[in-house]
Amino acid sequence: MYKKILLATDGSPSARKAEDHAIEIAKKFGSRLEALYVIDPEFSARIRSHRVTVPVKTNNTTVPFHEYIEQALMKKGEEILGDVKEKAEKEGIRVDTKIRKGNPAEEIIREAEDTFCEVIVMGSKGLKGLSRAFIGSVADKVSRRAPCPVLVIRE
Ligand SMILES: Nc1ncnc2c1ncn2[C@@H]1O[C@H](COP(=O)(O)OP(=O)(O)OP(=O)(O)O)[C@@H](O)[C@H]1O
Ligand SMILES: [Mg+2]
Repeated sequence: MYKKILLATDGSPSARKAEDHAIEIAKKFGSRLEALYVIDPEFSARIRSHRVTVPVKTNNTTVPFHEYIEQALMKKGEEILGDVKEKAEKEGIRVDTKIRKGNPAEEIIREAEDTFCEVIVMGSKGLKGLSRAFIGSVADKVSRRAPCPVLVIRE
């Protein structure tokens, strides 16, 4: 059971609990574990047409703002996935990591389809974490449309 687990993480408190849970399951079932972070280009896309730039201190030039944001999100994703890798290695578990770009829910579902995952593990809330909502929109969409069971971990 659970030969392949897909862990979706945005580094939020409930995603971090989901990380621990996914590592535990992988340990128990000897599963392969993949951790995924999705860069959501929605914010940067909105600003792209305005052609605003950000100064780059090191070489006195500028960089388009949307590129700057995407680079920052890429760095964030690498940090989050690096932390998961470290945590898993301490438990003797190997993790494959991946960063995709696009709508988070759609990319999580696509990754699960492409890699034949048998379960998706994710948090109930993410970085926005509105207290009045029971579940975030990414968790909601993935749990309704994923090709496999989805384990949603509450904060
Ligand atoms: N960009 C992402 N990359 C990978 N996993 C994500 C991403 N965004 C959300 N998730 C996963 O989905 C879970 C629920 O987060 P979600 O985004 O649904 O809630 P939210 O941020 O509180 O609300 P919303 O995004 O709907 O405003 C997270 O704990 C994480 O496991
Ligand atoms: Mg979110």
